[in-house]
Amino acid sequence: MLAELLLSMTVRCEPAARRLGYGRAQVGLWSRSRRCAKAWAPHHAETRAFVESLLAGQPQGGTAWVLGAGLLDDLPLAALAAKFDRVLMADIAWLPMQLWRLKRYPNVEARLFDVSGLAPMMLEWRVGKPLPEPQPAALLGLDVDKPGLVLSLNLLSQLPLLPLEKLERAGQSFATRQAYGRRIVAAHLAGLRQLDCRVGLVSEQRRIFRNRAGEVVMSESALFDITPPVAEKEWGWNLAPLGEIDNQTALELRVFASSDLSVSA
Ligand SMILES: C[S@@+](CC[C@H](N)C(=O)[O-])C[C@H]1O[C@@H](n2cnc3c(N)ncnc32)[C@H](O)[C@@H]1O
Repeated sequence: MLAELLLSMTVRCEPAARRLGYGRAQVGLWSRSRRCAKAWAPHHAETRAFVESLLAGQPQGGTAWVLGAGLLDDLPLAALAAKFDRVLMADIAWLPMQLWRLKRYPNVEARLFDVSGLAPMMLEWRVGKPLPEPQPAALLGLDVDKPGLVLSLNLLSQLPLLPLEKLERAGQSFATRQAYGRRIVAAHLAGLRQLDCRVGLVSEQRRIFRNRAGEVVMSESALFDITPPVAEKEWGWNLAPLGEIDNQTALELRVFASSDLSVSA
């Protein structure tokens, strides 16, 4: 608890994003990742292996973008740094430990960047006003140079979370929140599809809640019922083993990885 409090004072985050809760969320993610390190390790290994498979077919040099780099747990950092002249790691909130880790690689830059570009507008938004339109092109603002590879790693389903929390606090209906979440997810997919380079996408697509006996008690889309691209690989992510949410419920995510976003499943 004390570690979290101290850490929350050191998170790097723009003021609008901090006020929407992105700093707090990053500290929460770090805490959960430590508590659940063993359960999350296979998912991190699968994501890293998928990225490595993309690197194998990629020419040496140029620039790579990693969107939602966060805790750096799910990416092969040394391999990325060795493959590209520049690697831009983008996240809306950075913890100091990750910034220190990146300093070891002179060609890797941490960028404070809001991939959907919604944070300042969401903060200003008030009930009765139109919701800010998610812009597919927002991610192009990361850099002026064209990338050779763009990776969106365990980010897609996370983009709507804090905007939707704000809508919930403002008393917006479930249907309104679902529809807006869908627009945010669709905009990120459209933004990735517009890129003129290889793209690797890893995201959860379903949340599966199980009881103590392992029976499914609820299963829901993590992408607001948007059909994801055809998966080259799928796996389970034991996000919340028994005891993490409560003693009766475990949460598993179904994750997909794809580098051909042109076809939906
Ligand atoms: C599930 S975490 C994955 C982090 C990282 N790939 C890892 O496993 O270490 C999702 C990440 O997306 C970031 N994120 C959420 N919304 C974002 C936004 N609008 N722009 C950029 N990053 C965002 C969060 O800060 C978090 O680091």
